[in-house]
Amino acid sequence: MYETGGHPIVYGEKLIDKNLPTVLVYGHYDVQPPDPLELWESPPFEPVIKDEKIYARGSSDDKGQMYMHVKAFEALNKTGELSCNVKFMIEGEEEVGSDGLEGFVKENKDMLSADVILISDTSILANDSPSITVGLRGLSYLEVEVTGPNKDLHSGTFGGAVANPINTLSRMIASLHDESGRVTIPGFYDKVKNYDQAARNEMAKAPFDLEKFKKNLQINEVWGEAGFTTRERIGIRPTLDVNGIWGGYTGEGAKTVLPSKAHAKISMRLVPDQNSDEITAMFEKYFKSIAPDSVKVKVMAHHGGEAAVVSTTSPASLAASKAFEKSFGKKPVPSYEGGSIPIVALFQQELQIDPILMGFGLDDDAIHSPNEHFGLFNFYIGIETITYFYQFFSESNQK
Ligand code: BES
Ligand code: MN
Ligand code: MN
Repeated sequence: MYETGGHPIVYGEKLIDKNLPTVLVYGHYDVQPPDPLELWESPPFEPVIKDEKIYARGSSDDKGQMYMHVKAFEALNKTGELSCNVKFMIEGEEEVGSDGLEGFVKENKDMLSADVILISDTSILANDSPSITVGLRGLSYLEVEVTGPNKDLHSGTFGGAVANPINTLSRMIASLHDESGRVTIPGFYDKVKNYDQAARNEMAKAPFDLEKFKKNLQINEVWGEAGFTTRERIGIRPTLDVNGIWGGYTGEGAKTVLPSKAHAKISMRLVPDQNSDEITAMFEKYFKSIAPDSVKVKVMAHHGGEAAVVSTTSPASLAASKAFEKSFGKKPVPSYEGGSIPIVALFQQELQIDPILMGFGLDDDAIHSPNEHFGLFNFYIGIETITYFYQFFSESNQK
C-alpha cells in the first residue's frame, strides 16, 4: 500500500523472469456516490446476482472489472501458466481526478516500468460485438456561481425590477450552444482534430443500432452537433453539458422568492488535440463576457484531463485483438468511447507506455447510476480474454 495524501494506492507485483514481458494492470477501487439511494432495488454495497448480472455500486466501474484481472492472474499462477511478469496498481481516486496517482507515477517510474498497461474500465459495443476501446475523451469540469442581490428577496416586492440570477444563468447557459448544436465559446473548436472521410467510414463500420439506442433511453429523437453521427458525437466530438443546476427555493410547496444566487456544474468533454487548461480558461473568459451588469459571476475549475488515443498496431494491441477473437469467436472492432480516464494520457506521457483499453462493460450497465450491474457473461469472458492476452502477448514479445 502506498499513501498519497488521499486514498492509498494498492500495488503488488510478481516478477518471474526478466526475459519475459511485463504487464502493468491498472484499475480503480473508488466508486461514484450511490445516491439517489431510494432508486436502488437492492442496497448498493451488498452485491446480489439477479438475471445473470451482479448488482452493486462498482460492479462494472470498476471493482468488478478489476477483479477479473485478479481472477485471471490467480488462475494462471495456480496452473503455472503465467507467461508475463505482472504488476498491479489499483488506485482510489479515479473518480475525482487521480491526483494522488499522478505524483505516484512521476516518482516511481522504475518500479512501474512495463511493456504494456492493461486497463479494464471501458465497454464493449455489445456481447455479440466485441470491441477494443481506442479513444477516450478528455474533460474540463467547472462550477459557476451567479449572484444577483445580496440576499433572497420577496419576488413580488422586487420581481421585475431586479435581475433574477437563476433566469440570468439559464439564459447564459442556453447561449453556450447555437442552433446546430455547436458550442459557442470562441476558439473552442480551434484545436479539434478532424478525421477525414476514410477514417470516419472506418469508424462507421462498428455496429450501432440507433433505434435501440433511442428505445433504451426512451427518447424520441437524438440531439447533437449537426453533420455528425451519434457515434461520432460521442467518440470524436467535444461537448458541453450542465451536470447540475440549483438555487432559490426547491423544497416542498411554493415560496415566493427572488434568489440571491444561482449555481451550476458544467462539464466539457474534450477530444484530441484540445487542452483542458486552455478550454477551462476559454470558458471562464467567455462566460464572464456574456454576463449582464446586473449580476456577478464566479467560475471555479474542478478537475480536468486530456483525451487519449491508443495504437491499434502495436504488438500488445494485436495480442489483445487475438485474445478477443479467441474468446468471443469474432474479431473485435476499434471503438471511440465518450468517457474519460485522464490517467491514460498521463501514462503515455510519463511512462511512454501505450495502454490497452480492454474493458468488458456495456453502455447500459448503469455506471454512476442506481442499480449499476455487470453481466456474469462479461465477467467470465473478461477473465478468459485476459488469460489469452497474457499468452499471445508473451508469444509476440519474447526478448
Ligand atoms: N470508467 C469510467 C470512464 C469510462 C466509462 C470510459 C465508460 C469509457 C466508457 C471512469 O471511471 C469515469 O467515470 N471517469 C470519469 C472522469 C473522472 C475524471 C471523474 C468520467 O468519464 O466522467
Ligand atoms: Mn472507471
Ligand atoms: Mn466512473
